[in-house]
Amino acid sequence: MAEPLRIGIAGLGTVGASLVRILSERHLQLATTCGRPIEIVAITARSREKNRGVPLDLYAWHEDAVSLAQTAEMDVFVELMGGAGDPAYSAVKAALSRGIHVVTANKALLAAHGIELAGIAEAHGALLNYEAAVAGGIPVIKALRESMTGNTIARVYGIMNGTCNYILTRMEKEGLTFEACLKEAQRLGYAEADPAFDIEGNDTAHKLSILTSLAFGTAIAADDIYLEGITNISPEDIRAASDLGYRIKLLGVAQRTESGIEQRVHPTMVPFDSVIAQVDGVTNAVAIESDILGELLMVGPGAGGNATASAVLGDIADIAKSRPGAQHVPAFGRPVDKLLPYTRAQIQSHEGGYFIRLEVVDRTGVFASIAGRMAEQGISLESIMQHAKTASEPGAPQTIILVTHATSEHSVRDAVQAIKGEGYLVGEPQVIRIERPKEY
Ligand code: HSE
Repeated sequence: MAEPLRIGIAGLGTVGASLVRILSERHLQLATTCGRPIEIVAITARSREKNRGVPLDLYAWHEDAVSLAQTAEMDVFVELMGGAGDPAYSAVKAALSRGIHVVTANKALLAAHGIELAGIAEAHGALLNYEAAVAGGIPVIKALRESMTGNTIARVYGIMNGTCNYILTRMEKEGLTFEACLKEAQRLGYAEADPAFDIEGNDTAHKLSILTSLAFGTAIAADDIYLEGITNISPEDIRAASDLGYRIKLLGVAQRTESGIEQRVHPTMVPFDSVIAQVDGVTNAVAIESDILGELLMVGPGAGGNATASAVLGDIADIAKSRPGAQHVPAFGRPVDKLLPYTRAQIQSHEGGYFIRLEVVDRTGVFASIAGRMAEQGISLESIMQHAKTASEPGAPQTIILVTHATSEHSVRDAVQAIKGEGYLVGEPQVIRIERPKEY
């Protein structure tokens, strides 16, 4: 049997501990599949004492991830610490600078420094593999980076945060509060160390920025993403969406437009009978629309120890199987100096349908005024309805729901602004974009 592939692991949280366990349990199977054994030679984590449910005493312990990356005799450095800054950034840089391959699940790091790290990898003949960074166990990086080479991609979108999808699903199906669902997601190990990254949409944005680069061959532009999280989605929105035949999902969407690339992350209403609407719980889904292949939709586990470790393991196995001296796949699908400049489209140029929920004072003429403000902006309405509150006092606030046909973001914003000026709104209007899969 060939020489073992020696790996060092930095970070032994949910994913790291799963990886160590799987590597030990499937040692023989992996050695057969890869043609060489995969041996853990060095590990590091924040605390040495913590019980992770896996034996660690067989592996050389390092106190510090950067020194492990700088000194350990290894072929692959597996970075599972997370975070855009140090120690992850310096450790990955140090490993790549030694020509050591890196496997990482760190979307924040790649969103912030991915192109720089890809350049270092290229310069030193190392691989930078990161399948686990986007959509957990779904092999979307490989699909975009390798399998779909030659396709021109028009749009890539999906559910890329298990925590948000888990929360929205349980709120809808069990009528639970947002807070209760978030706690449960944290307990199950889906959420980020700071769950604000999940619920405010940053985690999805990091992942989307990576997909955008792969899909459109551009440099990563993680700061150019329109961002709205799910914290202001109320049970009323979920109910109203359901009454209208939609579900609310946090989508990340990147598409080519005439004015450039549009990247956005926001709660989105998707038609109930679309496949993406049926993606529940921690499951993720990514759709890619392209010219040669058509529409590819991948659905699978998006978060959690095993799902993420499965993708990390796939990346390690790819390296174990690669022939010495073989040409490496560039980290972002093309050599760094061949990445195209990124041109941003304005979110205001987005065209699509909108759901608008307004709490209004119950008085004559309000309905007509709302319809008028919409008409002034040339917005065509698909439906307009008043949700009469049962057992409400005469004159108590009422809910009006509008669904528009495709229109521009700009027109909707102007119409809502005009409605706000009329003086009959109670509270802030809720505006949720509608995204239709290609078949619609
Ligand atoms: N917190 C992330 C999620 C984990 O909920 O999807 C995977 O990136």
